[in-house]
Amino acid sequence: MKVRDRPPLTPLWALPCLLLALATRGGAEDAPTYPVWDADAQEQLVCRRCPPGTFVHRPCSRGRPTACRPCPPQHYTQFWNYLERCRYCNVICGENEEEARPCSAVHNRACRCRPGFFELSGFCLEHAPCLPGYGVVALGTPTQNTQCQLCPPGTFSANSSSTEQCQPHRNCTALGLALNVPGSPFHDAMCTSCPGFPLSIPESGAPWDWRGAGTEECERALVDFLAFQNLSFRRLLQLQQALAGPGAWRPLPPREDRVSLQQQLWQQLTELREARPGALVEGLLQALQAAGLPRMERAVRKRFLPAP
Ligand SMILES: *[C@@H]1O[C@H](CO)[C@@H](O)[C@H](O)[C@H]1NC(C)=O
Ligand SMILES: *[C@@H]1O[C@H](CO)[C@@H](O)[C@H](O)[C@H]1NC(C)=O
Ligand SMILES: *[C@@H]1O[C@H](CO)[C@@H](O)[C@H](O)[C@H]1NC(C)=O
Repeated sequence: MKVRDRPPLTPLWALPCLLLALATRGGAEDAPTYPVWDADAQEQLVCRRCPPGTFVHRPCSRGRPTACRPCPPQHYTQFWNYLERCRYCNVICGENEEEARPCSAVHNRACRCRPGFFELSGFCLEHAPCLPGYGVVALGTPTQNTQCQLCPPGTFSANSSSTEQCQPHRNCTALGLALNVPGSPFHDAMCTSCPGFPLSIPESGAPWDWRGAGTEECERALVDFLAFQNLSFRRLLQLQQALAGPGAWRPLPPREDRVSLQQQLWQQLTELREARPGALVEGLLQALQAAGLPRMERAVRKRFLPAP
């Protein structure tokens, strides 16, 4: 009697008997066979195949079974076989891959994409970051790229990142501070403790004088206010050049990358602020005039300077 390869649905109680039957099978008696022509005896023989992990060292002959030998290192046979030598483990993991299963006597080596990569059409591609203004809704998996979404109102993502979700804007009021710059999808809300707008009281002779209590905090607020105005790329560039002054050269950010340009501008304004504490506003108003940004100039005056 032959044990069926694929028994139809078996009642559970029968399972132990069946497993026992399968376990005792697999002995040499039940090994699959292959035909061999025995030239000496001039007859057709039926030889046993060799089990996975081995190969045929010598075919069977009359009264002598097939002689199998284990595969040498770096070689394998996956199935019952009559190969004369084992197959070489010829799968090599690529640059962006790692070993999912090492080479063994019964398997070729198998690779998968490294963490941080996903498979597409046989290639391992890096999980893309979500650009500023976009947050991660689903992390990349071995089979899928990162899923991004434009940050919904009230949230932001300032960084290009393949892990960061959109974060809620900070609530200046709840922090006991004043809102200086409203949040956008690209940046957080910016708060300040600069005491009141307009804030400074001009001293005699100076049309605007910030030297006094809170000056530093107010200059910080001015930097944020200016750098994160909702200006077009072209306007931002004009402003940046006017601030740098003639002859100064700064590396240009990639075309139309407003986020980087704003960050550069913020850096530039911060350097100005630190170079001459207390003297920021005067230079800025001049630069805004030079850059042909009268609306910004008015906004700065209205926000940070007392009415004339
Ligand atoms: C953005 O990345 C910088 C470092 O590159 C990090 O210091 C900062 O915390 C990140 N911003 C957010 C909102 O996580
Ligand atoms: C900010 O906090 C204040 C006070 O805690 C609250 O009334 C207000 O609704 C909050 N605003 C937002 C946008 O969450
Ligand atoms: C910024 O300006 C653009 C047009 O230049 C406008 O579509 C967008 O709504 C503005 N964003 C904010 C936060 O005011």
